[in-house]
Amino acid sequence: MIIINASPRKDCNTGILLKEAMKGAESKGATVEYVNLYDLSFTGCHSCLACKRKGAAKNKCFWQDDLSPLIDRILKSESVIIGTPIYFGTPTAQFHALLERLLFCVLSYEIDGDGSYYNKQLNVGIIYTMNAPKSYYDKTMRHSLAFTENIIKMLLKGNVVTYGACNTLQVDDYSKYRMSIFNEESKKSHHDPQFPMDMQEAFKMGCELA
Ligand SMILES: Cc1cc2nc3c(=O)[nH]c(=O)nc-3n(C[C@H](O)[C@H](O)[C@H](O)COP(=O)(O)O)c2cc1C
Repeated sequence: MIIINASPRKDCNTGILLKEAMKGAESKGATVEYVNLYDLSFTGCHSCLACKRKGAAKNKCFWQDDLSPLIDRILKSESVIIGTPIYFGTPTAQFHALLERLLFCVLSYEIDGDGSYYNKQLNVGIIYTMNAPKSYYDKTMRHSLAFTENIIKMLLKGNVVTYGACNTLQVDDYSKYRMSIFNEESKKSHHDPQFPMDMQEAFKMGCELA
């Protein structure tokens, strides 16, 4: 299994939950590679179309940077868990860049076939973390996030399971920041019982995908 942190903050909300997912997967005997995506130097798809050239290997991104070897390893593995904060209503830029590259190199533009060269099933877990309350995540965000989740399902042919950790703590001490729309006391009174439950859910996701 590969676990990918698509948050620039390695050990904050997303990273903590992903480490729980890793513990869950390891408790089931899985070998886990943990990657901090923001440590890698890469961009989104350059549309070089090398992956669509006649005679070129399929399911391979040919762009030479830090991401292509990770894409090779993802496509060889059985499952992947990606964690991302929500930035302006969507996953982070690096999350999107990874998906552009990963999904485009398995996408088939050929008339025969089912639109994907990938002939295994990759099960994908996605952990979202966000300021938004759960009610907003459930009513609005899940619907918009499902668009990308469905493309992942279609092209990588496995299950996609998701978990949203809502109303996270963005900083430890709100009094030090110009963030007066947030009430630290109410944030913390939500966080203190909720975040341990989010950690349990992440652990369970790791177990299920192992
Ligand atoms: C650039 C930026 C944009 C954000 N946009 C949103 C947003 O649209 N909705 C939301 O609920 N939270 C938003 N947040 C808050 C983060 O999603 C939230 O704090 C998240 O848990 C951070 O994850 P981390 O602790 O792993 O960095 C934003 C944070 C940043 C830095």
